[in-house]
Amino acid sequence: MTTAKEPLITDDWHVSGRIYRDPDIFARELAQVFAHTWVYLAHETELPAGGDYKTAYLGRQPVIVNRGADGGEINVMFNRCRHRGSAVCQREVGNAKYFRCAYHGWTYGSSGELVGVPFDDGYGDGFDKRAMGLVHVPRVESYRGFVFASLDPGIEPLPAYLGNARRYLDFIASVGDGGPELVSGAHKLVYRGNWKLQIENTIDPYHFSFTHKSWLDILKDRTGRSSPWVKNVRTNPDWRGIDLGRGHAVHEYGRLEDAGQNAHAIAIGELIPFNLNVFPSLAFVGAHLRLVVPRAVDETWVYLYPLLPKDADDATRARILRDHEVFYGPSGFGSTDDIEVGFDRVTRGIECSASSADWALMARGLHREVVDEEAGIRIGRSSDEVPQRAYLRRWLELMEAGDE
Ligand code: FES
Ligand SMILES: [Fe+2]
Repeated sequence: MTTAKEPLITDDWHVSGRIYRDPDIFARELAQVFAHTWVYLAHETELPAGGDYKTAYLGRQPVIVNRGADGGEINVMFNRCRHRGSAVCQREVGNAKYFRCAYHGWTYGSSGELVGVPFDDGYGDGFDKRAMGLVHVPRVESYRGFVFASLDPGIEPLPAYLGNARRYLDFIASVGDGGPELVSGAHKLVYRGNWKLQIENTIDPYHFSFTHKSWLDILKDRTGRSSPWVKNVRTNPDWRGIDLGRGHAVHEYGRLEDAGQNAHAIAIGELIPFNLNVFPSLAFVGAHLRLVVPRAVDETWVYLYPLLPKDADDATRARILRDHEVFYGPSGFGSTDDIEVGFDRVTRGIECSASSADWALMARGLHREVVDEEAGIRIGRSSDEVPQRAYLRRWLELMEAGDE
């Protein structure tokens, strides 16, 4: 960026602490990254019936995602009353034929149309209710049940945007034959740190055996065996990180071709055989969908939605939820480590902002990654920072696109 004295990311992959700390850079991210990408908001199984809705965020902007009361199209509308700006819908999920603003009682239909204005003689004859409905977000598209929206009217179609990530979304969309459903709500966590720390941590096999040592120790105590994790990270050639292009990245725990033949068993085994980041804020880990919501330069909300195979029986569903909670839940053994070590301590450490100290090193595996120009991908070893560079490369492109 030309607005800064020093680059935010150097050619040899030193990354400035400012990108996690500077409120001006955060504001620019909202305008350059979150306003010019497809942002995931909902899965269609969250909105099966007419009138079903959830509230969500497009960057920091609150939106209502709903299915029209007639059971038809999915709408994405700004959650902002056309009168004086109050958010009209307060609940996270529900079913409603109407949204009634609590401030002065303006009422909107399920497709956003303004249907009621108390004492409407106060606006004179020229007042056109039809022009004062909730404003729809410019673009909404769904891919295999995953609903995305964009603030950019000219953005490319969603399938093109997803690019090489589609293959992995297709796999998830067909787990257990019937695909997943998101019907158990979300486990939510909030941390005082930058949203990108969660993205970087989502595909990071390098940290696992250190940050989560107590978890691995408990497993060893209970099973009498050491986890094969470290050995796989260091030597298994089928454990690999891949930059899929366009900011998306994946880490495969074995070749997808092999997993594909066994997709049903894998779904029932409660595991997706890869971690996937879809730029900028959607991810899949183990058996959950992860949605990252930036709230401030140093505040992030993370929603974890367990993926339940549609055709799974109750015992399997219960097991998936239990397995999820034991690592990710509020009293679980995993998320807590990441929040403390990966987010809280990094946020503290990067306050060391003297220019000589203010650099993270994101170059791991740079010398050995394999570039496949034709497929538009870069392949690295499991512990290499290929996925982190994938998202930072696209992030920087979008941030610089605003420079004159
Ligand atoms: S702000 Fe909604 S009715 Fe006044
Ligand atoms: Fe972790």
